[in-house]
Order: sequence, then C-alpha cells, then structure tokens
Amino acid sequence: MTAMLHKNDAVFRLSLFQEFPTLMHYRGFGGYEALAKAVESNPTSIIETLAAAGLRGRGGAAFPTGLKMQMVRNNAERERYIICNADEGEPGTFKDRFIMTHIPFQLLEGMTLAAYAVGAAKGYIYIRHEYPEAQQTMHRSIAAAKAAGLLGDNILGQGFSFDVEIFSGAGSYLCGEETALLSSMEGKKGRPRLKPPYPTQNGLWGKPTLINNVETLANIPMIIGRGAEWYRTLGTLDSPGTKLISLSGDVEQRGLYEVPFGTTFNQIIEEYGGGMKNGRRVKAVNIGGASGVVVPPWELDCALEYHSCGERDITIGSGAVFVMDESRSILANVHNRVEFFLHESCGKCTPCREGLRQAGRIIHNLLSGKAVMADVDNLERYTRAMQNAAFCGLGQAAGNSLISSLRYFRSEYEAACFDYGNQYQREGITA
Ligand SMILES: Cc1cc2nc3c(=O)[nH]c(=O)nc-3n(C[C@H](O)[C@H](O)[C@H](O)COP(=O)(O)O)c2cc1C
Ligand code: SF4
Repeated sequence: MTAMLHKNDAVFRLSLFQEFPTLMHYRGFGGYEALAKAVESNPTSIIETLAAAGLRGRGGAAFPTGLKMQMVRNNAERERYIICNADEGEPGTFKDRFIMTHIPFQLLEGMTLAAYAVGAAKGYIYIRHEYPEAQQTMHRSIAAAKAAGLLGDNILGQGFSFDVEIFSGAGSYLCGEETALLSSMEGKKGRPRLKPPYPTQNGLWGKPTLINNVETLANIPMIIGRGAEWYRTLGTLDSPGTKLISLSGDVEQRGLYEVPFGTTFNQIIEEYGGGMKNGRRVKAVNIGGASGVVVPPWELDCALEYHSCGERDITIGSGAVFVMDESRSILANVHNRVEFFLHESCGKCTPCREGLRQAGRIIHNLLSGKAVMADVDNLERYTRAMQNAAFCGLGQAAGNSLISSLRYFRSEYEAACFDYGNQYQREGITA
C-alpha cells in the first residue's frame, strides 16, 4: 500500500502534514520555531492553547488532549513520563508509519512541547515490531535532534531537558491499548489493567504518564506555532483541524489523505479516492478499522466529525476507511474481523473470550450453510453482551462491525440460513 498525501491546491494549503524527512528540511520550513517560542513562556500556556484549539486524541477515543495534559500536570508527583503510542495495530491504518518515516521531527517537536507542558523529563515511542523502517528513522532523527540541541540536556539553552527512547512492541494488537502497553513496557504480560486509576495518575512505573497517539502529538507544533485561532479555521466548530485517513479497498486511488474535518465520506471516496474502481457501486464501507462499523452507501453523506458521526453510531477511530463494492460479501468481511479479534483477544475475561468464540462459530456455520435463523438472533445477543461486559476496549469494540452489519445487512445473514423463509417449521433446530 502506498502512502501519499493529497496535494490538490485546496487541501495542500491546509496541510499540517507536509513531508520534511530531514532536520534541515523541517527547520527550513519553520520547524522547531514553536518549541523556541514555547520554552520562553509558561508551560501551562501550551495546555491552554491546545484546549482552546479543541485538539482531540487521534488514537481512537478522541479524548481532549489539553485536558489529558492538565491531568498529568496536576499531579504532585514530580517524576512524569510521556509515551507516544506508535503501535498502530488497527487493520487498515497506516498513518503513524507515514508520520514517523516522512516527518519524524514534527513528531519529536510535538513530544518535546508536550513534555515541557506536563513537566516530563523522559519520553518513549512505543513502535510496533512490524515497523523496522519507522524504528530506524526515529532512531536517526532522535540522534540528529540531540546533536542540534533540540533534545537531551538544556534544550535550546533554556535549561529544560527531555530525552526520548524507542521501545519496540512485540506484535500484539492489544498492546496498543494504553494500560496493556504500560504492562508490556514494564516487562509484564501485555494485558490491560483496570481503569481507574488512569495512566495520567498511575502510569509507567506507577508515575503520572501522558500517553498520546503519533498523529495527536504531530499536530501540536503547528497549533503552538500558529495559534488556536488559526487551527480552528480548519475543520468544523465541533471538530477543528484535519484527520489523516487511511483509504483502502475498491477505490481508484488508495492511500493516505489529510482530510479537513467536515468532509463527507462520499467526498472522501469520490474526491480523494478518485471514485470506485471499474465503475462499480459502493455496497458498504468499513469506517474505523476492524473495531469500527460497517455502513451502507446512504450513510456516507455523514460528515467526518465527532458529533455527526456519533449521532449515527459511526466510529471514526484511527481513521481507516475500507470501501467495499457490490462483489464483496459482508459475511466474509465480518468473519475476517471476528477471526482477527479471536486471535488477538488475551482471554482474560469471559465475555470477550467466549463471545468471540461463539460469534466465530456462528459466522462459520452461516458461511458453510449450517446455520439457522435462531443463530442470527443469538449472534446479536452474544455480541451485545460482549460489548457491555468485556473488560477492555478490545472486547467492547470487537462487536461494532457485527452489530452494524446486522443492522444494515441483516438480510444477508438471514439469506445464508438453511431455514430462511421456512423458519417456523424448523424452530428449535440449532446448528
Ligand atoms: C485494543 C486497543 C488497541 C489500541 N491500539 C492503539 C494504537 O495502536 N495506537 C493508539 O494510538 N491508540 C491505540 N488505542 C487507544 C489507546 O488506548 C489510547 O486511547 C491512545 O493511545 C491515547 O492517545 P490519544 O489521546 O492521542 O488518542 C487502542 C485501544 C484499544 C482498546
Ligand atoms: S476484553 Fe478481551 S482483550 Fe480485553 S481483557 Fe477481556 S479477554 Fe482480554
């Protein structure tokens, strides 16, 4: 999959994510000016600016970034950490890899600004094992930033010190969940912890820790450099700024696009993706990755915006958009996702462990013509139980594609049952 940024005139002018692979390139276009300005002022002004800009986390949960920073800063404990979550395990998402390999210094400047804001002296970038190129680029970039006095001791001669280290993940999707990530960094099994306490109070080694996604942190230099008001000229009142969209599936131009919030999903497919391949029509779109939803074409007039999407139960998540044409089977697609979650579930809690197993069994039976109509109802019941009772975000979100596809494409599930149209005679029979 090739990653690229959309560069037609309208979008390029708005872009927060232009490619600056070297420190020289980055500084030549104003890189590190935000940090130079910030370290001469009060750290809390960074938090205030981010809050005024309305920046929300891009890792999936869309938590307000300024508020999270304030929670870390408010701690009496002086030893604080920053972790950049670069695990990027959500299938169909490839934005963080792009940032790390093409604009690594924007990420490092964002981390340094965040560190200054919350009073952290040490930061980690948790990069998934499957991204060796990103790990190498970040290693090189950290060394270059240190050599230039932009990282390490006494940054820019202002008495502020901050160091960054790379931590390589070991290939588990669950370790992208912030508390599982903390456990794995502490040398324990990469399993989630009970929340609260949240990492902002009790994070790495029990210390207050700011955990943010790569894209969230890479937004910070532009906001601090140009101000909250400028940032709010992008996107909408509800969702300021832009979002990186990993577009894949049956569109002409798959790739990575920077899209202002407020753009509709139809526009993303037509204007950024160049429309459907081979003149086919959209059957369904999976929004938000494996843990996201499956929606039909008539929902695609929805704007990419947290409020609008929330009203229609659409999860923006990490920004993966997978487009399916009429030739695709919804059941096969959902089966694929359930298999993924079955593989990634840690098995700690029953609703997720058993719920996924039952969902996998029913969908397998549907695909092999062995299911009955009652199984479809059971599938929905098990999935809802998993959503409501699972211990962590993996199990809570694993059923999103199931529930949404049952809502919009139930006829496809029912048509796969061998008692379809004849269910009353066969009542009581289970596969
Ligand atoms: C199963 C699971 C996997 C996750 N994977 C990632 C990931 O790969 N990258 C990421 O930034 N956040 C991931 N998250 C969300 C994190 O727990 C956390 O909310 C996020 O890193 C916070 O950063 P933000 O506020 O900048 O969004 C995942 C959550 C769950 C439940
Ligand atoms: S929801 Fe799934 S992944 Fe999360 S703790 Fe329970 S079994 Fe493990």
